[in-house]
Amino acid sequence: LREHEEFTKVKNIATIELGRYEIETWYFSPFPPEYNDCLKLYFCEFCLNFMKRKEQLQRHMRKCDLKHPPGDEIYRSGTLSMFEVDGKKNKVYGQNLCYLAKLFLDHKTLYYDVDLFLFYVLCECDDRGCHMVGYFSKEKHSEESYNLACILTLPPYQRKGYGKFLIAFSYELSKKEGKVGTPERPLSDLGLLSYRGYWTRVLLDILKKHKGNISIKELSDMTAIKADDILQTLQGLELIQYRKGQHVICADPKVLDRHLKAAGRGGLEVDVSKLIWTPYK
Ligand code: ACO
Ligand code: ZN
Repeated sequence: LREHEEFTKVKNIATIELGRYEIETWYFSPFPPEYNDCLKLYFCEFCLNFMKRKEQLQRHMRKCDLKHPPGDEIYRSGTLSMFEVDGKKNKVYGQNLCYLAKLFLDHKTLYYDVDLFLFYVLCECDDRGCHMVGYFSKEKHSEESYNLACILTLPPYQRKGYGKFLIAFSYELSKKEGKVGTPERPLSDLGLLSYRGYWTRVLLDILKKHKGNISIKELSDMTAIKADDILQTLQGLELIQYRKGQHVICADPKVLDRHLKAAGRGGLEVDVSKLIWTPYK
């Protein structure tokens, strides 16, 4: 019954105001019942508290002393900053972020237990503060070697390379942990597109530079991408042959160049020298 209820729930909040944007929502999000009659919600762009009326938000903005997400700034390059927010230390922020994110995530269950997660919030900063562009969440301890639970680029910022930046960032954290990682399944269509794009770009760049044979295990060690994801990506690119019961990478330079041309720009890069972070103990 519960599952059925989930399916039949209709989108309640149609638009949100967040910073200087008014954003149309995509999906249902289970806001507390007192917000059920609202078509529009007003978010404080810094603490992510949400309100029913514009005047409430204006009053809130005069009192709210946050100018960036709570937690630690672990990366800064130019105007881009990444903040790490511990869901246990900033429970309300974590819950607000989940409510907000669910408006754009379809088949993701909402985590009420934000204690178990870290939130990596990407911001564009200017003299008015750090404005959230998107985020990803990550379990503090994952049995399944997930290095990312949910990822979102807010609609006004989509298709500018931030999604791939967030994905790249999640793998940089995995590299620092000395672990391979993979995103939690299922992936949305846009999630799959973005991941495929990222995996393709990273693997093609290595194969292009590398001389001689290279194994999937070696690629996995270099990139923190899980071997299964590498195999699937390379199979999709027709760079894998099956010989004597083994998958072998056949990186024909002509095929590589053709794929590299099609793979488009690299986009926003993560500058690892600007990441100041140690793994969660
Ligand atoms: N139509 C076609 N292709 C698209 C679209 C689109 N609307 N949006 C992104 N892409 C492709 C781009 O072509 C790009 O590849 P390219 O650079 O090789 O051309 C690739 O996806 C990534 O683009 P970015 O600009 O880096 O990604 P963006 O900032 O738009 O974020 C994201 C991608 C996070 C998936 C975003 O679409 C989003 O937030 N969607 C809603 C939430 C969602 O579905 N999240 C993933 C759920 S799965 C999970 O959480 C584990
Ligand atoms: Zn606030």
